Amino acid sequence: MRVSRPARVRASIAIPPDKSISHRSLIFNAIAEGSATIEGILDSEDVRSTARCLAELGVPIDWPAGSSIARVTGQGLHGIFESDNVLDCGNSGTTMRLLMGLLAGHPLLSVLTGDASLRSRPMARVIHPLREMGATLYGRRGDTLAPVVIKGGRLRGMRYATPVASAQVKSAILLAGLYAETETTVIEPERSRDHTERLLDAMGASIRRVDRAVTVHPAERLEAISLRVPGDISSAAPWMVLAACHPDAEVVLRGVNVNPTRTGIVDILRAMGANIECLEERATGGEPVADLVVRSSSLRGTTVSGDLVPRAIDELPLIALAATTADGVTVVRDATELRVKESDRVKAVVETLGRMGADIHEREDGFEVRGPTPLRGARLDAHGDHRIGMLAAIAGCLADGETMVLDDAVGVSYREFWEHLRQAAPDTVSP
Ligand code: S3P
Repeated sequence: MRVSRPARVRASIAIPPDKSISHRSLIFNAIAEGSATIEGILDSEDVRSTARCLAELGVPIDWPAGSSIARVTGQGLHGIFESDNVLDCGNSGTTMRLLMGLLAGHPLLSVLTGDASLRSRPMARVIHPLREMGATLYGRRGDTLAPVVIKGGRLRGMRYATPVASAQVKSAILLAGLYAETETTVIEPERSRDHTERLLDAMGASIRRVDRAVTVHPAERLEAISLRVPGDISSAAPWMVLAACHPDAEVVLRGVNVNPTRTGIVDILRAMGANIECLEERATGGEPVADLVVRSSSLRGTTVSGDLVPRAIDELPLIALAATTADGVTVVRDATELRVKESDRVKAVVETLGRMGADIHEREDGFEVRGPTPLRGARLDAHGDHRIGMLAAIAGCLADGETMVLDDAVGVSYREFWEHLRQAAPDTVSP
């Protein structure tokens, strides 16, 4: 796609459904009693990977191509079958790690694999705690990488302090904890997104939260729950940054999930001086939702660290872009996790914005940007990573001259991204 700077940006965008909640609504309902209708499920490659794997495990899922409504027939806690084939999780870390937790509680043999990116992402963080609970797991390269082989069975509850703030790790252990003989507690260094806790609680599981610790009790049953999935703040983020950084912009982002464990991007942009209004807060599917209005602002540098990092983990690449337009220095640290996402996002961000003329430097645990620096159009590729594809497109909208984005990845989370960009700024994109 070719992108150049639009004269103005005006849009009212219904934000696509949340990816994390879409995965969870399928996985948790698969092991519940009864049927559930999930409205507004995200029809993206990642969520389709979860649905495909669950179908392989014998879970009836009625989700026609192109539809935003999925019906799941719950099989109960012990009703899934052994798949007669390898489970392909595609590009999706959430699919692989949550299914590992689920399968740890079942006496079945499973092999999980994925694309080249997923096969290079760390799995020991899930393999070790699940082994400690009593499941048998092996992975490639000394039990660190997928493909992963798992044979579940009787599990012991445990108290586990995870070294990384990761909702995928936490969720895998909590899912296994539903099947354990005694209670299971996960303690995180910083709190990660809590969609698992909210949904399991609504389905009748016994979940207790104290500060950075979550405890789940062994479950006898979960009740299927129908829900409407709220909009994904990670998909609202490109428009938030475009509007905040463009000199003539106003965007209305409708139906965005504003769960406090996910709103780091709002807090960071506001700390930089962005004009963001949060209107009509309401609730959908046990999650808070609001409309966000973002307008042109002049930004200043900021520091992002500590508990803000997991609250904005997938948006940090876009913060780097905002920082190129901001006055002063922006430092993102404590974000080593960025290196093990769909790509090494520290390297990918520094390379992408560096090519466009940004004053950006890599740190072991993040990056440092000195602004403001004008960006110039460049030839960019998505590094096989949807978030980097969107970063490149939005950077192209803020740069002088033309940017070429070689996108092979945006559909992983946001199929309508390019269409929405065209709506926001008709003069900006050409194929
Ligand atoms: C996710 C958790 C985060 C996030 C990912 C989705 C989830 O990963 O980056 O896009 O749905 O639980 P980590 O748990 O590895 O931080």
